Amino acid sequence: MNRKVMTGELERLAGQPFPLPEELQAGFMSTAMQKPDRPVKLACRQYWKLYGAAAQRKFRDAGELRELVDSGRAVGALQDVDLEIGEGEIFVVMGLSGSGKSTLLRCLARLIEPSFGEVLLDGRPLIGLPAAELMKVRRHEIGMVFQNFALLPHLSVVDNIALPLRIRHDDPASIRENVAEVIQLVGLSGMEARLPAQLSGGQQQRVGLARALAVKPGLLFLDEPFSALDPLIRRELQDELVRLQARLKKTMVFVTHDFSEAVRLGDRIAIMKDGRVRQIGAPEEIVTAPADDYVRNFAAGIDLTRVVSCARIATQPTRSEYAVKVPADRRIAEAAEEVARAGGPVGLVDSQGRLVGELDAAAILRLVSGGLYGGGEGAGR
Ligand SMILES: Nc1ncnc2c1ncn2[C@@H]1O[C@H](COP(=O)(O)OP(=O)(O)OP(=O)(O)O)[C@@H](O)[C@H]1O
Ligand SMILES: [Mg+2]
Repeated sequence: MNRKVMTGELERLAGQPFPLPEELQAGFMSTAMQKPDRPVKLACRQYWKLYGAAAQRKFRDAGELRELVDSGRAVGALQDVDLEIGEGEIFVVMGLSGSGKSTLLRCLARLIEPSFGEVLLDGRPLIGLPAAELMKVRRHEIGMVFQNFALLPHLSVVDNIALPLRIRHDDPASIRENVAEVIQLVGLSGMEARLPAQLSGGQQQRVGLARALAVKPGLLFLDEPFSALDPLIRRELQDELVRLQARLKKTMVFVTHDFSEAVRLGDRIAIMKDGRVRQIGAPEEIVTAPADDYVRNFAAGIDLTRVVSCARIATQPTRSEYAVKVPADRRIAEAAEEVARAGGPVGLVDSQGRLVGELDAAAILRLVSGGLYGGGEGAGR
């Protein structure tokens, strides 16, 4: 894995209330821009999008764009973004309103033109592709789900889902088959003939999801798809997406401004601010090794036990045998009951069954009550 060690971060952690056993430290070597651990599906390099009259031209190098933004003559909605999104991962883009999330998603999906830079799908450049070719890519390889569902009000569930397939002239038999399959997949059976107005918000968004999946895209773009839903339904659809993903293994780019949603869904999360990416990492990395205060603030108030692994709050083993052993990479919430029942410290083991640390109930309580940094400045407030 292409990881650069941020030694400062490790030194800082070493002085904290949870000293990491040496064997575990390697797992926490972090970098502000973590690479995917699998083949790259979608990548962008030096990606820029400027808004404003001065930005309506071709640029020869990134320095020209930087100058326009720095001098206030253009809005830098995307500034020098480099990303690699792995095959089959849910890649979450997260940030405050106006940070550039939708702009990034639309530029990646080629719904809008970037001002500068390149984007590669399966290694193939999408910039400069003839319009007809690009259309083909968009219709066959990309699915989109939007916040406001974007359903046509006069079309039934079936016809809304079939629409993109009809537009690309699939044959009627394959359309019927495809639509029936995705309706079942997203749990809309029995509602085929209803109009959008006859569905709840959650059901409407299931239609939106089914319509995107019907295309059988390798790549799915979702821009705040659950933001308009109330919390319970939202949670239900998040679980549904995780369940679907386990089965379909699509590559997804998922935009949200809700950090708990990002943590629940993301294999990796990119945190954006002012058009730039501040950090890319797995949820646990973002929470335990935030690149700056902006990132750190998002983690405040979330349930750390669902994000942080046992390894992160482990201490050195004090014995050679433990009656109860738990995988070190298990989330604390999932191990807590076993630890409570053990009546003493449990051993933590790596994937080969080797003892790498020790965890007791007191450490879990300390995390819950004081956060990762012992109740002072940090993620657990
Ligand atoms: N068509 C446009 N013309 C001019 N400025 C724009 C345009 N679209 C977006 N912007 C600006 O670009 C920046 C990024 O906007 P974007 O919509 O990507 O943010 P966002 O992170 O998706 O926000 P939100 O969470 O509110 O959806 C903002 O400053 C916005 O005002
Ligand atoms: Mg947006």
